[in-house]
Amino acid sequence: MKVTLNPPANCSFASDDWYRLARYWHPVALAAEVGPAPMSVTLLDEPLVVYRAGDDIVAARDICPHRGVPLSMGSSDGQGIVCPYHGLRFGEGGRCNRVPASPDLPIPPKLNLLTFAAREQYGLVWVCMDPPDGILPALPLMPHWDDDGFQQIVCPSFHIAGFAGRQIEGFLDVAHFAWVHTDTFADPNNQQVPDYQTLETPYGFNADYVSSMSNFAHGSGCQAPEGFTWLRHFEMHLPFTATLTIHFPDEGRLVIMNAASPVSARKTCLFVPIARNFDLHIPLEEVHAFNRRVFEEDRVMVESQRPEHLPLDLTLEAHIPADRSSIAYRRGLKRLGFGAFFLV
Ligand code: FES
Ligand SMILES: [Fe+2]
Repeated sequence: MKVTLNPPANCSFASDDWYRLARYWHPVALAAEVGPAPMSVTLLDEPLVVYRAGDDIVAARDICPHRGVPLSMGSSDGQGIVCPYHGLRFGEGGRCNRVPASPDLPIPPKLNLLTFAAREQYGLVWVCMDPPDGILPALPLMPHWDDDGFQQIVCPSFHIAGFAGRQIEGFLDVAHFAWVHTDTFADPNNQQVPDYQTLETPYGFNADYVSSMSNFAHGSGCQAPEGFTWLRHFEMHLPFTATLTIHFPDEGRLVIMNAASPVSARKTCLFVPIARNFDLHIPLEEVHAFNRRVFEEDRVMVESQRPEHLPLDLTLEAHIPADRSSIAYRRGLKRLGFGAFFLV
């Protein structure tokens, strides 16, 4: 039976935008954090419980169908998650497999959890709450993730008190490097943004940006050969996931995914899987710490932007030629039918 999905009571999104966002995959947790015990996450203002049962990853509304206690308050007994109130247990597929108060009677389907499609990819657990016509959309692609010679790194998730669209637009923005990232990798004296183009794709758009701005971490002691130009290839997968492939000297490749999960209209959980084929000896903690510093630099800007939402009407903010990607992003979201995003 198809359950009609409605925005949660305290929804911070405009209703049309909420329904539209529910059609896409969004990451909700690091795969390594999800085990048999119930884990509480929030997606699009909807509290979810996530757990593993057998080979299954289950994502469900975090509410017991019996008397409405959040299942994330419960625990695992090895055969499913157990509600703390009357002990109903839920296993694979969110199915109720035990009612302790009437253990010998058949269990009606109405005691099963309301589940959503969940999938593990790039070290993350992704959830699609309402696939269009019941057909699951494609997950965003991460270049090189499965290629030989590439290391897979999943950064700890990062919380931002801001809108996912503002965060992702910042990830696509090449003009802020020389202003915001000067403590981590950028050169404050290299401010000019050479011309670049964007190209529409079935999932959004891409952009090849070539400049002399180095991507080596300050303090690494690494330097590109004289005259080396850096190619940064962006792939935008609307609405909130983008990848950046940076071409380093000597065929080095660094791929960074920014998957901005809309916890609410004003809260974002940023997930960042990374793939690279060089510097493989550097301890993961150092990689995490460096990227965290970069995210912190961005967070200060994203959390301070006003209005908090992303104006899709291009006349509402002023643009400069370096903003081609931002403009393509806003146009792409508008083309998909998104509006103001926020409940205003
Ligand atoms: S409320 Fe969960 S078992 Fe009763
Ligand atoms: Fe940035």
